[in-house]
Amino acid sequence: MMKQPGPASPAGLSGSKEHKKGEVKTAGGAAAVREQQLDQYFTFRDELKEVEFKRHDMPTPWMNYLSNGTFHTMLSHAGGGVAFYKSPQIWRITRYRFFHLPTDRSGPYIYLQDAGTGRYWCPTYEPAFQKPQEWSSSHGLGYTRFEAQEDEVAAKTVYFVGPYENSLIWNLTLTNNSPAVKVLNVYAYAEFGMMEFMRELQWQCYNKHQVSVQYHPKEALVYKYGVENQPKPEETPLVYMMSDTPLHSYDGDREEFIGSYRSESNPAAIEQGGCTGSTLLGGDPCGALQVQVTLQPGETRTVNFFLGTAMNEAEVEQAIEHSREADFVARSYAALKENWDSYLGAWNCELPDADAQRMLNIWNPYQAQRNFLFSRNISFYATGTFRGVGFRDTAQDILAVAPFDPEAAKEKVRLLLGQQYQDGHVNHYFFPNEGWDPVTSIHSDDHLWTALAVWDILAETGDAGFLQESLPFYDGGEGTLYEHLKRAIDFTASRLGPNGFPLMLRSDWNDQLFRVCRQGKGESIWTAMQLGTVLLRMKDLAAASGHPEHAAGYEAMYEKQKDLVNTLGWDGQWFRRAVMDDGRFLGTDEHDEAKIWLNAQTWATLSGMAEPDKAVQAMDSVRDILDTELGIKKLHPSITTFPDPADPLTNYNKGTGENGAVFCHANTWAIIAECMLGRGDQAYKYYRQLIPNVAMEQAGIWRYKAEPYVYASNLFGPESDKFGLANVSWLTGTAAWMYIAATQYIMGIKPVLEGLSIDPCIPSEWEGFTVNRRFRGCLYEISVTNSSHSCKGVKEIRVDGQRLEGNVVPAYPEKARVKVEVIL
Ligand code: GLC
Repeated sequence: MMKQPGPASPAGLSGSKEHKKGEVKTAGGAAAVREQQLDQYFTFRDELKEVEFKRHDMPTPWMNYLSNGTFHTMLSHAGGGVAFYKSPQIWRITRYRFFHLPTDRSGPYIYLQDAGTGRYWCPTYEPAFQKPQEWSSSHGLGYTRFEAQEDEVAAKTVYFVGPYENSLIWNLTLTNNSPAVKVLNVYAYAEFGMMEFMRELQWQCYNKHQVSVQYHPKEALVYKYGVENQPKPEETPLVYMMSDTPLHSYDGDREEFIGSYRSESNPAAIEQGGCTGSTLLGGDPCGALQVQVTLQPGETRTVNFFLGTAMNEAEVEQAIEHSREADFVARSYAALKENWDSYLGAWNCELPDADAQRMLNIWNPYQAQRNFLFSRNISFYATGTFRGVGFRDTAQDILAVAPFDPEAAKEKVRLLLGQQYQDGHVNHYFFPNEGWDPVTSIHSDDHLWTALAVWDILAETGDAGFLQESLPFYDGGEGTLYEHLKRAIDFTASRLGPNGFPLMLRSDWNDQLFRVCRQGKGESIWTAMQLGTVLLRMKDLAAASGHPEHAAGYEAMYEKQKDLVNTLGWDGQWFRRAVMDDGRFLGTDEHDEAKIWLNAQTWATLSGMAEPDKAVQAMDSVRDILDTELGIKKLHPSITTFPDPADPLTNYNKGTGENGAVFCHANTWAIIAECMLGRGDQAYKYYRQLIPNVAMEQAGIWRYKAEPYVYASNLFGPESDKFGLANVSWLTGTAAWMYIAATQYIMGIKPVLEGLSIDPCIPSEWEGFTVNRRFRGCLYEISVTNSSHSCKGVKEIRVDGQRLEGNVVPAYPEKARVKVEVIL
């Protein structure tokens, strides 16, 4: 590891190990040599906002999410995936076999069969045994495209969900590149599951007789899930599968299409030259459609398939007719593109670092939007069975959507605050689509996060009226939005522990801390810092909502907690993390394990609570003890026996997940803290080392494994056996906070209540950068010049040539664009 100069590590704290790139240990310890060149696997096509894949056998399925906000499909680069309507918990349409081999099955597959020879292959590469001679796939924003050629037939398939119907559109373009006429059997296949995935696992043998697939006279298959005691039967849609090309045959019974002891690799029906015409009144359902296409030499033809939902027979019929309109697919695709162009039009930057620029202009806001939509529900790693909407997770996700779509951000705040009780606490997870009871465990942090989101929305919009909206409480009654936020503070203020810090309650942001507070006495020093961060915002919100008289109370609370943090909370070289039930501190040099925790160091600065020398010392300790070449560990040393070998604080293996992994989400706060301390080079080191393709390059693709275009929740740490292995990609708070850290702290362009504050903290070697940012209806064309090669410190700002006092550029509701020149 490249150590920065700094004070020597305390005894026992030299944590990090070197990882040799390209060396992948097998179980027996032998090093397997695999292709390491990333460009052999994928290429970014930034001008198209796409990433292209050159081979199907990536270390894991690399996913994309296709969605119109109601109908969704998670689809891999190799064509595996799962479609669902609103909820993957109760309205999952297709079956995806999580954790099972072969990996990444099933999916919305197309098979192309030469009617003469009977040979068949899939444009998605998988799953047919015969493979295309040429193949690539690409993920774009809301679509995935496969381009393949086999036996002189070229197939381009674009999968996407358009805004006009709730359906996955499979847009297939075939070209005959041979001198002979080609007659092709084209099959579209999707395996339907039971919509309730948990019921399928538990009660399939009975309930399977309550599902049906029927042939619709308009040449479609209609799948009905009508199972006794299912949730919200009246809101459960019918599923249709159809084509815009006349059908040759169909199957609704998976056993008939696939056959016995076969799989998607070799469906019996295809080998017999056509589907069997099966419907299904009980059994294992599927949708399989066959159409036939004759292509003259050089001819190109398009076939579209649709897998969609509609609420009843009449709507199914309408959807079928609508989807067959000549321009339906083209219009749908154009609208999808337009929607993303307009969304991303809120921000565009040019940076000296192409990897960062790509993340900030394309993939990071895209990932953050998907988190906002799906919370932590369903991914290659999360089975979509129970997590609904997590209060704390979604509250944080709002931060990175507010700059693009403040109205959607407001709507999400309203949804969250409907989960708040009159006493100020909130439900931990809830299920707006499923109608299930929420998970009601009370955590010390959950209810506090919303104030950050609301402050950001106010800063983005300038609309203080939002605070006056009247919103219901979960347990009855209502109050203004500001009142909700105030009650969250009151809840924490009335639950302080013996030392005066907030009680941990069930846990705080670090989920595994529930074991230090089982007797209800544990206190969270980190929550004191989170509270402090929120109190600073609450002073503003009190004033904005016409309650300036509350500010003094917030201030007093802040000062009290600040004092505790700097006294009892200080361990000598870093801040302590918590007080355990038995009154001992967690996160102190006195113990052998879990001596230092990342969050307590970063939030001491984020909250403005740390005394200046302590803030610097704490972040130096992060750099010296927790940082590695692949990101910052969550804690060190990892826990194996602490505090009691019979009952350690966590069951996570050392170096994994919640225990000493590089927890990317928590790394984002180190970037912010370093920026707040003015240390732009260190902040940028922390930022850049976690850019997914940069981390992959560093770790080696076969170690890192997850997607190179979206953040993962965590990487195995140096104390594990697989340092650098990325986990739980896509759905993670890393996305929102990386975006905030980079745009608002490194690039320093941060909406505040008075306008757009500009205070970059960049690497000293940068000459400058430019950003176009939409803010309150006006486009700010910002150019930052750093010829002095400093990290931080704005010398001058000119707006349309006029010198500005201070560094907050006001809102210009009457202007379409302004030019902002910034000199560091
Ligand atoms: C996961 C959870 C999040 C929690 C974090 C740390 O990311 O989704 O709620 O804060 O782990 O424990």
